[in-house]
Order: sequence, then C-alpha cells, then structure tokens
Amino acid sequence: MSDNFDVKLEKKSYLPEYSYRDNSWIGEYEPAYQRFLDDPERFWSEIAHELEWMQPWDNVMEWEHPYAKWFTNAKLNITCNCLDRHVNGDKRNKVALMWRGEDELHERVLTYRQLHAQVMRFANALKGLGVRKGDAVCLYMPFVPEHVVAILACARIGAVHSIVYGGFGADALNSRIRDANAKVVITADVSYRRGKTIMLKSIVDEAVTNASCVEKVVVLKRTNLNIELMPEKEVDFYEIMANADPVCEPEVMDAEDPLFILYTSGTTGKPKGIVHTCGGYMVGTYYTTKYVFDMKDSDVHWCTADPGWITGHSYIVYGPLSTGATVLISETVPDYPDPGIWWKTVEDIGVTIFYTAPTSIRMFMKYGEEWPKKYNLDSLRILGSVGEPLNPEAFEWYYRKIGKARCPIIDTWWQTETGMHMLATLVGDKMKPGFTGKPIPGVIADVVDKDGNPCAPGIGGLLVIKAPWPSMMRTIHNDDERYRQYWNTVGNYYTAGDLAVKDEDGYIMVIGRSDDVIIVAGHNLGTAEVESALVSQEAVAEAAVIGKPDPVKGQSVKAFVTLCVGYKPSEALKNDLIYNVRMSLGPIAMPSEIEFVDSLPKTRSGKIMRRVLKAKDMGLDPGDISTLEE
Ligand code: WT7
Repeated sequence: MSDNFDVKLEKKSYLPEYSYRDNSWIGEYEPAYQRFLDDPERFWSEIAHELEWMQPWDNVMEWEHPYAKWFTNAKLNITCNCLDRHVNGDKRNKVALMWRGEDELHERVLTYRQLHAQVMRFANALKGLGVRKGDAVCLYMPFVPEHVVAILACARIGAVHSIVYGGFGADALNSRIRDANAKVVITADVSYRRGKTIMLKSIVDEAVTNASCVEKVVVLKRTNLNIELMPEKEVDFYEIMANADPVCEPEVMDAEDPLFILYTSGTTGKPKGIVHTCGGYMVGTYYTTKYVFDMKDSDVHWCTADPGWITGHSYIVYGPLSTGATVLISETVPDYPDPGIWWKTVEDIGVTIFYTAPTSIRMFMKYGEEWPKKYNLDSLRILGSVGEPLNPEAFEWYYRKIGKARCPIIDTWWQTETGMHMLATLVGDKMKPGFTGKPIPGVIADVVDKDGNPCAPGIGGLLVIKAPWPSMMRTIHNDDERYRQYWNTVGNYYTAGDLAVKDEDGYIMVIGRSDDVIIVAGHNLGTAEVESALVSQEAVAEAAVIGKPDPVKGQSVKAFVTLCVGYKPSEALKNDLIYNVRMSLGPIAMPSEIEFVDSLPKTRSGKIMRRVLKAKDMGLDPGDISTLEE
C-alpha cells in the first residue's frame, strides 16, 4: 500500500439495537472491554478457569517480541474439554453432531458419548499405525462425521493435524503433505458435490507418489466401488477402528505444544503453514464461541464452512464442541439440488445460530427471496458472517430476508493466523452495515499508517493488532522468518495485511487485502500459487494474476499470460491452461478469464506490477507508475 486514503463514511440511520441480549457471562461490551484493559491476564485466566486442565499454568502470558507463550507449563488435552468434560458432566446423551449429506434422507447423529467413543477408538487405530505425539497427519476428506472423528483423534494422541480442503488438486495436496512431513494421510474413496462424485482417493494416489514421508494412507469407504487397497501401505478406516481398543487415555499436552498446521495462501512462494498450539487456541475459540455467538445450551449451531478452513477448525469443531453445543455439519452446497436447500435444512433441524460467508449471501440474493420464503426460519436467533467484507446490500438482505429483522448480524473479522474472532459487533450492540465492528474484549486493534501512527476516523490505513492474544499463530512451519515479518512490518504490531477505516465510534470497516492475496468466494488464494501453476505449463512464459470484482464471489481470478515462442493465442489453449490449473490446484483456483498479452508491466527490479494490470483492466488510473520499467 502506498499512502493513506480518504474513505467517505456515510452517516445513515443504523439498525436498531437489540435489547434481548441475555448474556450474564462476561456482560456488556463496554464494561467487559474495560475489565480486560484493566487486567488482561486476569481476564484471560478467568476464562481459562472454566475449562479443564491437567496441570495449571505458571503464567498466563510470557511475551518476548514477537514470540508469545500462553498458559506456560500448563498441561491439557483439548479433547477432554470437547468430549470428556461433557460425557462426564450433564451432556452425555446430548447430540454433539448432526450430519446431512447431499441426499437429505441421508442423515446421521452422534451424541457426545458416541463421538467420544469413536474418537478414542480411532485414536488407538492411529497409534496402531505408528502415529506418535508430534507426528503430522494430513486429512484430505469429504465433510462427513468421520472427518471430525479423525481431527479429534489426532488431538487425542498429540498428533499434529494438517487438514487440506477437499477442493484442492493433487499438486496443492502434495506440497502441503511434504511441507508438513505427514506420516499418515487420511482420505475417503469419494466425496460428493452438486450430485457429482469426486474420486478423492485417486487424487491422493497422485499426491503421495513423490511424498516419501507418507507411511500409511487410511481410506474411508463410502461406496461399493471396491477400491483396491495396496497391502501394507493402505488401510481401511473402519477396519483399523474395529481392531482398536475402545479406551484411549488423552495424551498429556503442554499448552505450547502444536495442535495443528493449516496452510494459507501467501503473496509469494509456497503457502504458509500456520501453526496453532493447544492451550491458547482452546481458550480463544471457547471464549469467542461462547461470547460472540452467545452460545446457549439449547442452541443448534450451523457454520457452513468446511473443516479445511480455519473457520471449520475453530467454529465447527473446537469452539462449539468445547462449549458443549449441538453442531450441524453438512456436505451440501448452497444451490444444489436447488437454492432452497440450506433454508430447508434450517427449518428441518431447527438451526438457531447460522454462520456463513458473504459470497453465499450474495448468491442467495441473486436467486431471490422466493427461496427462503418457502421455509420457516423462526428458529434462527443469530446470523454470522465471515471471510470477506459484508457489503451493506448483502447485510440488509441477510438481516431482512433471512433474519426477518429479528436476528442480529454478527460480522466477524479474523484470519487463519488469528485463530479466533478479533473484530465483531456483539449481540445487543448497535449494528452498522458495512462495518465489522469493534475489537472484542481481549483484543487491541487499530487502523494505523505505515509508521504505526493511528489514523483519524475516516482515514484509511492498515489494520493492526497491538498486543498478543491466546490463539495467535506461534510460527509458520519451516519458515519462522515469515512469521516474524507479521510483527515487524508496522511498528511492533501484528499486521494483518488488510486495509481498513475506523469511524467516530471506533467501529472498523475492513476494505480488503493490502497485498496480492485474492479472496474468491471466501477462499483465500495467493496470486503466486496460481501463477506458478500457469507458468509450469509448456506454452506459458510468464503469468500475472489479479482479483477482479465479482458481484457474487467477491473476486474472481483473471490471468494475464505471455506465451513462449512457437505458441499462438487460441480459445483451445485458454481452455487447456484453465483445465491444467484446475487439475493441479483444484476448482477454487481456476481463472475465470485469461488474457494473452505481449508483455507484463514490471518494476525495474523485475517485480510484476499487478496493481497496474488491475487498474488498466478496470479502466482506472494506475496511480504512481514511476517505478515501471520502460
Ligand atoms: C482474510 C483472512 C477468518 C476465516 C475466513 C478467512 C478477510 C475475513 C472478514 C470480514 C472483511 C474479512 C480478510 C482477512 N476477512 N473475515 N468479516 N470482513 N474481510 O480466513 O483465509 O485466513 O482469510 O479474510 O481479508 O485478512 P483466511
């Protein structure tokens, strides 16, 4: 980002405040925030005390810039809080997971007791494969209950899970497996999407061919396709489970032991393996699920994300289960078999908290209000949004057509790196369409210029977090230097990489990325990964990728490509290039447009100026081009 910029903040009548908030837990925003500021350690320690630990901590936090340790020397196992605590308490037979497949007759339910039993068995099965504390296990699975079982089984034995979204292709999977050094890969024969069968296992076959770290592949068989398993190396999910002991004592984990690695896109080079640890992450996700979503015992929580994203980790699995919630999981997409499927699901199940991404809301707007109108949505109590800016039009539609002007809209800003919600408008507080809200109690955030000085209201700048929080990432796997950059770019603050603006009341509007990350339908894509998938093809000399505004997806991928000598632009070549990106990175990274060009704009030092391409593409002034090569 070059300089600050002005943002016009419209003064409009904001939506009404809600008076029904009944959260006696931490209480109203202002006093809660003040209590946090007065004594941050006490604030977090009170929350942590609601959870079970095997051994208490010496210090709540130790900070040596840019490294934080939370709950030092405490011992725990996160699954004890997600499972044992409820099974031994009053939630033994409460429904933990409800699952719906694409075929809505296909429904499965697991109580806390059943989930606990399955997790322990599968944990022992993993031990039987030689998985030990600290080993990495890669999960590449469809969204079925077994996915959640596998996640928690890893945590039970202290294995570090690395979940790769099932929409990624073989190359993307391969690089993540190798970077994490995964010993075991857990997958399934197939996944289903929009009525189509996707052969997951064949993608894994390709991805593990030159990944010598992988000793075993566990395959969940969902079909009668009778996939042949290679003896010794490949094993059947339920077979190894059937042969495993039913009781698995939780591994004793240090609060700072890693819990998982999750890859997110970077602006340059390969994706970043964000590392989260056991203690702080548990406290952060528990707290935000309970406070931001106002989670009650009677709630039915539906977060429409996939476990392959941080949203799934934090607000399908660890957060909601640690609060003992009933969690709905679903393999469905929003518009198949028709755009009413999610609303039908809300009605059938009686969902109370619904958490989705702006891209889905905009898709529903496009199909029209007839679809939600067909169903009774009275059970809904709270509507959440995450992943990209919730534009005021989408906000209004969500608020009126889905929430019937009855439910607060909780827009939550956070990142893979932050692990938990950071900015939000809490239930009961004044909502301002277009603004995410304020930093939640526990978080100190601000909008600053590039020297770290706070920007005045209405002046855009960089979004930073000024103090450590429990669920912050601890490092980037195999690349600690990249971790340090987050805390050394703007003052001593954590720089999120987002542009934002504050208003007079301290509400923050997040505008978008300040770097070359593109957010397509809520999926974070690095320009670098798509570009290298293009350049790896014979015909392509150079490629530059930009995000183009898209009315539904937020952004779409447009690629500018220069060809090698001997290749001519053609429609057929375009389709080939797109197809190849799809095969190597997966459908989410597919360019929707390719333009053949003779050369790409570069700085004199050879850096591609995507900003210039973008401005030209949109018919805008490209701004300062003094560094542009002749
Ligand atoms: C980036 C992080 C956090 C889970 C999903 C994405 C954008 C996220 C919002 C929001 C505006 C948002 C930011 C952020 N973002 N939430 N409520 N309003 N922008 O996780 O893949 O790590 O992406 O998503 O640009 O930096 P992620």
